[in-house]
Amino acid sequence: MEIISDPHDMQGRARQWRGQGLKVVLVPTMGFFHQGHVSLMEYGKTIGERLVVSLFVNPAQFGPQEDLGRYPRDLDRDARLARDAGVDCLYTPEPGGMYPPGYQTFVEVESLADGLCGASRPGHFRGVATVVLKLLNQVSPQVAVFGEKDYQQLMVVKQMVADLNVPTEIVGRPIVREPDGLAMSSRNTYLSPEERAAALCLYRALLAVRELVATGAKSREHILAAVRQLISATPGSRIDYVSLVDPATLQEVEAIQGEARLLLAVWINNTRLIDNTLLSESRLCCV
Ligand code: PAJ
Repeated sequence: MEIISDPHDMQGRARQWRGQGLKVVLVPTMGFFHQGHVSLMEYGKTIGERLVVSLFVNPAQFGPQEDLGRYPRDLDRDARLARDAGVDCLYTPEPGGMYPPGYQTFVEVESLADGLCGASRPGHFRGVATVVLKLLNQVSPQVAVFGEKDYQQLMVVKQMVADLNVPTEIVGRPIVREPDGLAMSSRNTYLSPEERAAALCLYRALLAVRELVATGAKSREHILAAVRQLISATPGSRIDYVSLVDPATLQEVEAIQGEARLLLAVWINNTRLIDNTLLSESRLCCV
């Protein structure tokens, strides 16, 4: 596995691959790999001929009070996991290479990025859209793979690529969970054993709602009340947002018609966790 850190070297290698007619796939990450990241790599491996994983803790997507300084890092372990997953190239640019002195260009996606995580983390999606566009320009992949764990991020990236005519297909992949249901996240390492137990309330809430919906519940009021009740009964937890949205527009819906997405952000003491699930209108019919 090749490791490249210089953006110009990355662009050069990508140009070479294009010249050879090879299908290039990119998995963008901030490192500290877990099985969620690895699942994206394994999928990427099956659909392309050169698999690039970028590892860059992007300062532009962190707010001033956020965890940029303590974001977990372990390059040696990440390189081992990437090699084992069959990654061809680990791309590890430095902040100074991505945002050199005098840097002044940013990408802003409008309404999709406004609510939900965008409301709680001002500037976050501006940083994400900017770095993802830069990575796409550096690697020129035919396909880039993202996780549904960060559902709003996936939709923001899809919109940006469509709006700016970027010739890359954006593919979303399912959430990978711990055996007990907690969505895998690099930030789970922040949790103490007690907080780790409390963190299960997100998944429990999603499960409870799926059950409600399976038995015919549709209304936003009913669904959100169930989530709020379950989370507020968990010590140390505080809801940042809970939303029932149209899966394509991320606009709030009053009831599930066809499909909706339930999106959840919860603080477990000082750690903010997100999770989501697709909800399909129950076909149950009352006779
Ligand atoms: P990061 O949090 O490292 O996530 C990298 C990719 O892994 C994202 O597409 C994310 O949705 C996916 N992912 C994370 N946890 C997952 C899980 N449990 N199951 C499936 N996929 C999961 O997201 C980012 O980095 C950054 O914002 C980035 C896109 C790299 C831009 O800086």
